[in-house]
Amino acid sequence: MQKDHFEEKAKNWDGESIRVNNTRTISEAILEKFELNKEMDVLDFGVGTGLLGFEIAQHVKKVHGIDTSKSMLEKLEEKNTPQLSIKSYHQDIIENPLTQEFDALISSMTLHHIEDLEKFFTTIHKNIKDKGFIAIADLEKEDGTFHGDNTGVFHFGFEKEELCKIASACGFKDVEFESINIISKPHRDFGVFLLSAVKR
Ligand SMILES: C[S@@+](CC[C@H](N)C(=O)[O-])C[C@H]1O[C@@H](n2cnc3c(N)ncnc32)[C@H](O)[C@@H]1O
Repeated sequence: MQKDHFEEKAKNWDGESIRVNNTRTISEAILEKFELNKEMDVLDFGVGTGLLGFEIAQHVKKVHGIDTSKSMLEKLEEKNTPQLSIKSYHQDIIENPLTQEFDALISSMTLHHIEDLEKFFTTIHKNIKDKGFIAIADLEKEDGTFHGDNTGVFHFGFEKEELCKIASACGFKDVEFESINIISKPHRDFGVFLLSAVKR
């Protein structure tokens, strides 16, 4: 598995209010777009410390979180309680895909860490049940200044047309891309989108 780029960042991941507020906005956008219920198993790709996963876990049967960073997953485990927990998987979603099928896949701010997008969408298409959905949030096209350090960043955000084309070519239907948030940093604003699609 790749080096854990999040070892240092994990220590105070949940301490940044911009990040926490952004994930809440992503969760609200997902809940507005899709009807969730207590029968659903949902995969959170790049679950990290569970900022998005724990929001969604309140509405479904189980959130399963996959992540390559042991440090981020350790922080997640500390937040698990008997009342609300995420089942974690320490593995690379591309190199070592899960074999189960889920009712949905959600994701926050992780797609830019995936180099080969065709491989990613083809892989996750196999993980989604028929009539299931994906809801993936990340940065709109940016100038490479969002992250202070771009180690492990393969895309400086995404363009609507390009991303929708790839998701459709990999078998997803009703592909939509909507702007859902603005993250304001001192030097400029960054748009956040939600890509949604279904499998049928
Ligand atoms: C920017 S963080 C986002 C974490 C969380 N979703 C959030 O919004 O707070 C990206 C996460 O994706 C994970 N990640 C990167 N590439 C991955 C891969 N190929 N498979 C699984 N997880 C991956 C990283 O380890 C990291 O925890």
